[in-house]
Amino acid sequence: MPIITSTEMLKQAYQGKYAVGAFNVNNLEIIQGITEAAQEVSAPLILQVSEGARKYAKHIYLMKLIEAAEIDTDLPICVHLDHGEDFEICKSCIDGGFTSVMIDGSKHSFEENIKITAEVVKYAHDRGVVVEGELGRLAGIEDDVNVSEEDAAFTRPDEVEEFVSRTGVDSLAIAIGTSHGAYKFKPGQTPRLRFDILEEISKRLPGFPIVLHGASSVVPEYVKIINANGGSMSDAIGIPEDMLREAARMSVCKINIDSDLRLGMTAGVREHLSKHPTHFDPRQYLAPGRANIKALVKHKLINVLGCDGKA
Ligand code: G3H
Ligand code: 13P
Ligand code: ZN
Repeated sequence: MPIITSTEMLKQAYQGKYAVGAFNVNNLEIIQGITEAAQEVSAPLILQVSEGARKYAKHIYLMKLIEAAEIDTDLPICVHLDHGEDFEICKSCIDGGFTSVMIDGSKHSFEENIKITAEVVKYAHDRGVVVEGELGRLAGIEDDVNVSEEDAAFTRPDEVEEFVSRTGVDSLAIAIGTSHGAYKFKPGQTPRLRFDILEEISKRLPGFPIVLHGASSVVPEYVKIINANGGSMSDAIGIPEDMLREAARMSVCKINIDSDLRLGMTAGVREHLSKHPTHFDPRQYLAPGRANIKALVKHKLINVLGCDGKA
């Protein structure tokens, strides 16, 4: 099966009331952990690459690793640019074989966001590539941009129809209380998402796929292992999984997960090196990191996203 766009995946997810997992990839072990899990449960996948990932690993290496995973697993895989900040990076990823790009114009004014998003949509659609736009701002780190809580803003439902119709985007990322990274709520704060906003947006955009960023649940088991093995992440707190399940039953068709993969990898590496302080072969400590990622992704696909068996 070739690398495909997310169009059919998201359509099926909308109709079936589940979500497709969009996992961030940066290296071989992460790609293998995710794709081996998806293969075992027969789930469609979106593998997404940030600007930082392209800087770290180079576009060509990630593209070729994903192509290898696709051949190895024969899964439906979409390759997506995560948080493209301008036309140039979107163009470069489209020209370089990605089947989907996000143009993140959320830091701009509404009109400017529409302008740059529509420009990317034109270039992408002419080449058979799909586009995700964003309205509203999440708190946390968006690539190199640190959005403070004061600057974060929920998506305004009264803007979504105009944004979608004037840009022609294929999916829309919204802000309803999730945020990037491992510290999503303050200690003692009760995690809360604005399902009322999501519902209002869904009513205004019937049949249209919504995207949820910042959706790691910050798996407590991995935080515990990290803290028990020299790390210090006591205040890490994520989105409860039942909230993600609820969003997937609604119009959220793509759920972005990165921080949980990082925690799984780090927990595996730290635990291994604590137990085996003499080991220095990277294969010895990266393998448990990869195994954690595989177990974590399998759990998400079956128990959170509900996309197992949908490949
Ligand atoms: O939304 C951000 C993703 O977690 C990617 O993070 O820019 O550090 O690769 P990164
Ligand atoms: P997390 O930091 O919650 O994993 O979010 C990842 C994300 O939204 C990537 O775009
Ligand atoms: Zn994001």
